[in-house]
Amino acid sequence: MSEQTLFKVTVDNITIEVPAGTTILQAARQIGGAVAPPAMCYYSKLEGSGGKCRTCLVEVSKGSEKDPRPMPKLVASCRTTVMDGMEVKNITSDKVIDARAGVVEFLLLNHPLDCPICDQAGECHLQDLSFEHGKADTRYEFQRRTFKKHDLGKHIQLHMTRCILCYRCVFTADQLTNKRVHGILDRGDHSEIATHIEKSLDNDFIGNVIDVCPVGALTDKTFRFKNRVWFLKPMDAHRDCPTCSGRVTLWNRGDEVFRVTARKDEWGEIEDTPEGKPGWICNTCRFDKKHTNDWVIEGPREISRHSVIAQGHYAGNIGTTIPTETFKAVNDGRAPHLLMDIHHESEVNLPSIHLSEIEGPSNGTTFNNNSNNA
Ligand code: SF4
Ligand code: FES
Repeated sequence: MSEQTLFKVTVDNITIEVPAGTTILQAARQIGGAVAPPAMCYYSKLEGSGGKCRTCLVEVSKGSEKDPRPMPKLVASCRTTVMDGMEVKNITSDKVIDARAGVVEFLLLNHPLDCPICDQAGECHLQDLSFEHGKADTRYEFQRRTFKKHDLGKHIQLHMTRCILCYRCVFTADQLTNKRVHGILDRGDHSEIATHIEKSLDNDFIGNVIDVCPVGALTDKTFRFKNRVWFLKPMDAHRDCPTCSGRVTLWNRGDEVFRVTARKDEWGEIEDTPEGKPGWICNTCRFDKKHTNDWVIEGPREISRHSVIAQGHYAGNIGTTIPTETFKAVNDGRAPHLLMDIHHESEVNLPSIHLSEIEGPSNGTTFNNNSNNA
């Protein structure tokens, strides 16, 4: 068997080796944490996704070992593969932070501010993105787009005004169901998700469009307006399902099951099953099994303590992570990484001087004396 070619890539000053053909986004996700760019349209489990929303833009400050010239423009990290010796800047680039704020502004041009009544609130990627990169006001003076309402059947509710046209639901229907009945109609400002003409989305597995939609454009009619996600208690559960993996998260309040979703990983994507396949769930598990008796409860779902869903939950009792003291323990086992080498940026704090060994209280003179001795 031929050996896999590995490329060295550096993202925000952290170097890793990844197989040739890996995208910058995937390489950054391997490093993890804030180094990974946000992604609104890319979805690793859906072939062909990505390249639509531009939230994942990064700066390539060195093209490769062979051709070290920087790339002239910011690139979409979900669609650009790494080269050997490539150097990428994400959160360490002012250009990227600026561009991302612009992308958020564009995404919000037509997006209604209905978070207070939107079922996706608390787990919406656009809400997170706006919180991190958005501005408090808008420069847009025109009327926002409105659409004729389309009924997608008894399970799925479409709010077209919230859609950011990421195409994830279209890929899901194409790749998971036996017949896609919805798609994006028209072009430009008129583009919209619709079925032609008025069909309902009821194929087996079509419910997964709810889980992949990064905003609240496609929501679960069986859960609609029933509760806020942060009041619910997520529990991992499974059942012996003849159609799908049967591995889900139940969103309970007391013993009542309000909602069933697939399990999601730290990137908000469907988690893999132990066999390494994406854990998509069928419509029966999602919409029809709403009693705790239908499920074998495994235990509380672990929710990041930074998520609003973890708010109001008592740590350790129902799935929130109890903060521990070491950085590694609260960072999914990853050691702290150096994002910026202070010695490159500043002449002070030379590595040869051990600040902890200077007897305090110290001032500039003490430091200079030590610096001369060093
Ligand atoms: S409905 Fe949701 S998943 Fe489908 S294109 Fe719009 S934002 Fe994307
Ligand atoms: S996630 Fe890369 S362009 Fe949308």
